[in-house]
Formats: sequence, structure tokens, C-alpha cells
Amino acid sequence: MTYSSKPRKIVITEALLYANGDVHLGHVLGCIQSDIWARFQRLRGHECHYVSGSDTHGTPIMIKAQSLNLDPLEMVINVAKRQQEDFAGFDISFDSFEITHDPLNQALVNKVYEKLKEKGDIVVEEVEQAYDNVKSMFLPDRYIKGTCPRCNKPDQYGDSCEACGATYGPMELIDPVSVLSGVKPGVRTSTHYFLKTSNYTELLKTWYKTCQIQPEVINKLSEWFETGLRSWDISRDAPYFGFEIPDAPNKFFYVWLDAPVGYISSSKSSADKLGVDYNSFWEKNSDYELVQFMGKDIAYFHLLFWPVLLMGGGYRLPNRIQIHGFLTVDSCKMSKSRGTFIRARDYLNAGLNTDCLRYYFAAKLNSSVKDIDLNLQDMLHKVNSDLVGKIANIASRCSTFVKKFHNNILADELDESALWELFVSKSGEIADLYERCEYSYAMQEIMKLTDLANQYIDRCKPWILAKQPDQMRKVHLVCTQGINLFHICMIYLSPVIPKAANSAKEFLNTESLCWKNVEVPLLGRQINDFKPILSRLNNEQLDILLNRANCVSEELS
Ligand code: MSP
Ligand code: ZN
Repeated sequence: MTYSSKPRKIVITEALLYANGDVHLGHVLGCIQSDIWARFQRLRGHECHYVSGSDTHGTPIMIKAQSLNLDPLEMVINVAKRQQEDFAGFDISFDSFEITHDPLNQALVNKVYEKLKEKGDIVVEEVEQAYDNVKSMFLPDRYIKGTCPRCNKPDQYGDSCEACGATYGPMELIDPVSVLSGVKPGVRTSTHYFLKTSNYTELLKTWYKTCQIQPEVINKLSEWFETGLRSWDISRDAPYFGFEIPDAPNKFFYVWLDAPVGYISSSKSSADKLGVDYNSFWEKNSDYELVQFMGKDIAYFHLLFWPVLLMGGGYRLPNRIQIHGFLTVDSCKMSKSRGTFIRARDYLNAGLNTDCLRYYFAAKLNSSVKDIDLNLQDMLHKVNSDLVGKIANIASRCSTFVKKFHNNILADELDESALWELFVSKSGEIADLYERCEYSYAMQEIMKLTDLANQYIDRCKPWILAKQPDQMRKVHLVCTQGINLFHICMIYLSPVIPKAANSAKEFLNTESLCWKNVEVPLLGRQINDFKPILSRLNNEQLDILLNRANCVSEELS
């Protein structure tokens, strides 16, 4: 057999989005990567729980709600709803999507904290921190700006200089001011709670040896360990939108403590749907695999702090951490002023087919952490040439004759079994590429097959044979063969282009495009009229999209 016969049980997580803004195509890139993986595993017959949600706490969210004159909870509930709609628009098939401001999450966070405390992993220290006397609040480093003490570049954040790369404390800036009030911050002392991550140094190192982590990321890990692990500040002073620390009034857990625990609380709704216990995902010795997807900027949290919370809380550890690079548009960071900040909604509202973007990203994604560039012209060519010109073409060329001469009934045998068997034989290799997140290579392999299928049809020329009455049987066999090759290619592509896969299912009159059906030829059976599974992208649509992206910059200016 070319597919694994033993069903796996897998919990797949996607980073939780901050609930303070619109979903943009960078977020969508990450979700497309994990969604393809989740869909692939489901097609293989494995039990999957694909979990994400909204990360609803922290200073930026609190400030945003204030600026909109909204209660933060009201705001995050609305934002989370919009995020879910956007993801649904791109066919991201989450099984759970919950917000972190949730009673179960709070209970779990408190439990983890209590356990860490019992183990002696929490220490309390007095720290000096910048304070905004006008807003009556402590200021995170990013809320202070000033002139870089090293290179004198003005308007730099309180933690590092974008011009010279220097890192420093916020009060080392020349002429520091609060971003919130514009006045010079004062300094106040406050009691903070720290997690002694260094207690877990050896355990972390042992885990890295068993966890599947990309080699580039492993190299980064050793850099972090060189200087030893610093204790992690897990508390913030009021006012803060988050969970209050049980034994410390007016102190709140730092958002990065409760956010990853949100993976656990969110997973409950997926477990409930299948009638299984979500605790079984997270307990030590769980028989579920845990695979976590995220962007490169948050690898640090997931490789250092989150596993410490899991270990401290008595939970299992992840089996695999899959990290992707950032999306750039026309080779630059997405920028509102250049009109290259594209929101998910801009894409959906411009009426572009989401399979196009999914395919384009898949054709570029692999297991490296390198950035991925979106160039709309490039996308137009790629999609029109591969999806319309190659894959859809196979079916449209063959279906006409099956309809016209055989009432949409396929022949009872294939014309060239050897060619069909070659397509089947690629199943293992393509599955392995999906498994390893080497999607760009998987797409290349599939496109080689579509080329072979089109060359076969070109060679047989059913349109010429159809004019010769004694060749009608041959025409039937050739077209049945073509449609069967199309069937296999669509199974291979279905994790990537779910909308087209649904149309193909309807055309082929088949219940499912599950992976093992690759080996089952469609013979002697009724199919349906062919309708284009995908239409060509055109420049007008791209213009509409770019106009919308430009409107974002106007709305914000
Ligand atoms: N809330 C945290 C994650 C908490 S997980 C327990 C967060 N949120 S985020 O909204 O800033 O980012 C969500 C995901 O989108 C992250 O995986 C992040 O790396 C990814 N991306 C954000 N901008 C991106 C691009 N421009 N390109 C690709 N991915 C990007 O971080
Ligand atoms: Zn500088």
C-alpha cells in the first residue's frame, strides 16, 4: 500500500491572532500552510483536531479598545468574529476557534501558575519601570520613543533602534516620551512575578532532541542558550486587559502566559464535537501527536516559554514545531502607505477565487523559514497556466466526448493502464512532501503529472478520432483515461484547492476525494456535466484588489 494504514491522532495548532485588527494576507499565509497540512491528514484518514483562536489580552488591545471607546471584551468578541469570517472565506478548516478571554482558559492558567509556584519556579522581584503620569500606567518598552543613544537616530522604540540595531532599556533613550501622552515618562518601582525558565534548561534541551524542529531554528536555539536563560517576567500591573493573578491583586498575567494555554482551552470544542476528552490531547503520554504551526517572529515564545509552561503544568510536549517566514508583497514588507498592505477582506471583497491564492502560496511554501513574496502578476500567470491551463484542461477536453457519445458514462476499462499506474505510484512521494511541508515540491510533482496527462491527450487526439465511426470505442477509452488521470491529480491537489476539489467531486460524481481513492479507477460509472472548476484570473480583478488595498492607507491616514 502506498498510504499509511494505521490512523494517527493529531492535534494541529495555528498561532492565535491578536484581536486588535484585521486579518491580512500574512496571517492568511500561515493559516494556509497549516490548513493544507490538516486537510491532507484528514484525507489520509487520520483523526485531526485543528485548533486556533483569538489572542485577546495585552496593552495594545486595551489601548485600541479605549481609542474606540469600547469595552475591551466587547471589542475582542467582535474582532474574533470578523477573523473567523475571514478565515472561513479562505476555507481555513479550523475545528476549534475560541478566544483566550474565556473562563476555561483562566482556570487552566491559574492551575499552571499554582503548579509552577509549588515547584518553586516563581520568584518575586522589585523592578523599575517607566511610568506615564498622565495616563497613570506603566509603559511597555514599545510605548516609549526617543532618540537612539548610540546613533542619534530620532523616533526609535524603547527596546531597540531600527537604524543601527542597538538594544537598550527605554530610559536610556535620549529625550524619551510616552507614545500615549507625549510626556516624558517617570520611573516607578513595582513588584513583578518571574518564571525561572533556567530551572528547565536541561529538560528543554532533552525535548529539542526529540521534537521535530527545522535545522535553521535549531541553530537559533543554541544562540539563545549561550548566555543562559533569563527569568521571564510574567506579570503586568493594572490597568491591563488580562487575567488577574490569583494571589496578587492588581497584578495580571502577561498576555504571553495565557495565550498559548489558549491552545489547550480552545481544543476542547473540537474534542467535544468528536466526543473525546480534550485532556487526552494534553496529558503526559498522550497518544495524540501535537504539531504546532507559527511564524518566525514567535518561535522564541514557543520554543522557550511555552514548553516550560507545559512541563511546569504537568502536560505533554509538542512533537513538531513548524515555522514559516513572513509574507512580503513585491519583495517589500507589507506597507499601508505603499498600498501593499492587503487585508483578507480586500481579497474576498474583490471577488477573487481563494483557491488561486492558496495554490500560489502552496507553490512557494516549503519547510524553510525564508520569507515568501506575493507578486500579483506572478500569481495571475501561475494560476492561469497551472490550474486553468493544465489541470482543468484535462477534464474539459475529455468530458465533451463522454457526454456527447456516451451519456456521461465512463468506459469499463482504461486505455493505458501503465500510465494510470504511474500516476498512482506517485502517491507515496507526494504524500511524503505534504507531510514534510514541502508543498512547493509537491506542486511541482503534481504539475509534472498534469503535463503527462495533457501530452497523452494530445497524442491520442480524441477530437480527430471522434470523426471516425470505427474509433468510437477508442475515444471512450481515451477520455475515460483522461478523466481518471484528472481524478488522481485532483485528489493530490485537494488539500490546496478545496473549492475546485468540490466542483471536481460533483463532476466525477464521487463521494470523497480521500487519498486512498487514488488507487480506485472510476470505470463504467455515471459522471456529471463538466463545469469549469476555476475561472481565469484577470487584470481587472487584480486592479480592484489593489484599489481596495490603497483604500486601507487612506482610511488610516
Ligand atoms: N497572538 C500572537 C500569537 C500567540 S500564539 C499563542 C501573535 N499574533 S499575530 O496576530 O501577531 O500573529 C499571528 C500569526 O501570524 C503568527 O504566526 C505570526 O508569525 C503570523 N504573521 C504575522 N504577520 C505575518 C506576515 N507578514 N507574514 C507571515 N506571517 C505573519 O503573534
Ligand atoms: Zn541607533
